[in-house]
Amino acid sequence: MTQPPPSPTMCVLPWIHLCASIDGVYGRCCVDDSMYHNELYESEAEPVFKLNADAVGCAPNSRYAQDNPDEVRGLTEAFNSPNMRRTRLAMLAGERVSACDYCYHREDRGATSYRQSINERFADTVDFADLAERTAPDGSFEEFPFFLDIRFGNTCNLRCVMCAYPVSSGWGAKKRPKWSSAVIDPYREDEELWATLRENAHLIRRLYFAGGEPFMQPGHFAMLDLLIETGNAENVDIVYNSNLTVLPEKVFDRFPHFKSVGIGASCDGVGEVFERIRQPAKWDVFVANVRRAKTEVNLWLQVAPQRLNLWGLRDLLLFAREEGLDADLANVVQWPDDLSVANLPDEEKRRATVELAELAEWCDGLDWSKPAAHLRALSAFMNAADPSELIAEGGV
Ligand SMILES: C[S@@+](CC[C@H](N)C(=O)[O-])C[C@H]1O[C@@H](n2cnc3c(N)ncnc32)[C@H](O)[C@@H]1O
Ligand code: SF4
Repeated sequence: MTQPPPSPTMCVLPWIHLCASIDGVYGRCCVDDSMYHNELYESEAEPVFKLNADAVGCAPNSRYAQDNPDEVRGLTEAFNSPNMRRTRLAMLAGERVSACDYCYHREDRGATSYRQSINERFADTVDFADLAERTAPDGSFEEFPFFLDIRFGNTCNLRCVMCAYPVSSGWGAKKRPKWSSAVIDPYREDEELWATLRENAHLIRRLYFAGGEPFMQPGHFAMLDLLIETGNAENVDIVYNSNLTVLPEKVFDRFPHFKSVGIGASCDGVGEVFERIRQPAKWDVFVANVRRAKTEVNLWLQVAPQRLNLWGLRDLLLFAREEGLDADLANVVQWPDDLSVANLPDEEKRRATVELAELAEWCDGLDWSKPAAHLRALSAFMNAADPSELIAEGGV
C-alpha cells in the first residue's frame, strides 16, 4: 500500500505515537518544539516550570506537575489532550502546527523532514485515509499509540562534549543548578503509567529507547519485562540509541523474545577521538561491546558529526567496514555552536569539503549509499549560508 497522506501537512505520528521526555513532558514526537524547556535548567533560582502553551501535557511525577496542575495527564489522556486533538484537526485541514516547526523549516528549504520520512516509513503498513476517517469531529482518536518513545530518565555514565544536563545525569553530577537533582526519572514510580502500559501491552508494536543511557535505566528493563511477562514481546520491534559503554549481560536473555532489536551504537570517532568526545568512556570497552552485541542484534554506528571528529570520519568509516557495520551520519551537531562544523574557519571548510567529497566517492565505490548521502549533506550543511536550513535528518 503506497499512498499520499490525505492532506499536505499530515504527519502519521499524532495518530500512532507518543513521546515522553526525560523530564516528564509528553510530545507529538522527539522533535516536537513544545516539549523542550531546557532554558529552565539555566536559571540559578528555581524557576516556575511553566509548560509551553502548545504542550500536550506532563506526567504526574514530573517537576512540571506542581506548576501546571491542569496539564497533568497519563499516556492515554495525553494522546487525546486538547492540543493533540487540535493538532490532528489542523493537520487534516492542511494547516500548519507550531509545535512541528522543526519539520516545516526543513521542508520549506527543500530538505527532507522527519515528518516526510516517517510518513514514508509507515506508508506500507498504516492506512492514512482510514486514520483520517476514524478521527472524531473533536480530533480524538480512540486507539492506543502503538509506537512509544518513553525516555526512562536521564541516568548516564558519560559526559559527552556535545551533550548536557538535563539529558545526562553524568553532566548533572558535574554541573547543574542547586535546586535540581542530577538524576531525573519521572516514570519509574508512576503507578498509573505502568498500569496503562500493562493494560495496553497487546497493542504495542514499536518502542524506541534513548535517554540518558537506556542500558542503565531501570524503567527500560521494567518495560522489556512487562512485554515479555504479558506474552506480547514477539509483536514488538525495539530500537535503541545507546552509548554501548555499558552492556549488561541480562539484555541478551530478553532480546530473543522480541520481534526485532536494533541498536544505533553512538560512536563519534575511533580511539582517541572517541575518548575525547565521549568522556570518560574507553574505546576498548566500546569495541568489545560492539563485537558482543553485533552477534545478537542488528547494530550500526550512530555518528554525530562535529568539529572534533570531522578529520576522524575516514578512520571511523574504515572501522565500520572492518566490523561489517553500517554507519548513520545524519545527526549533525548544531548545538553547541562552537562544536558545529558550520563554524569552522573558511580555509578549513575548503579542505574539509575535499575530504568529504573523497569519502563520499569512496562510499559510492563500495555501493554504500547511506553514508555517501549523509557525507554530502554534511558538506552542504557546513558550506550553507544559513546552515540551520540544511540540517541533516535525524532525531536526538
Ligand atoms: C542523547 S543520546 C541518548 C542515548 C545514548 N546515551 C547515546 O549516547 O546514544 C542520543 C543521540 O544523540 C546524540 N547527541 C548528543 N548530543 C547531541 C547534540 N548536541 N547534537 C546532535 N546529537 C547529539 C548522541 O551522540 C546520540 O547518538
Ligand atoms: S552517552 Fe548519550 S546521554 Fe550520555 S552524555 Fe553521551 S550523548 Fe548524552
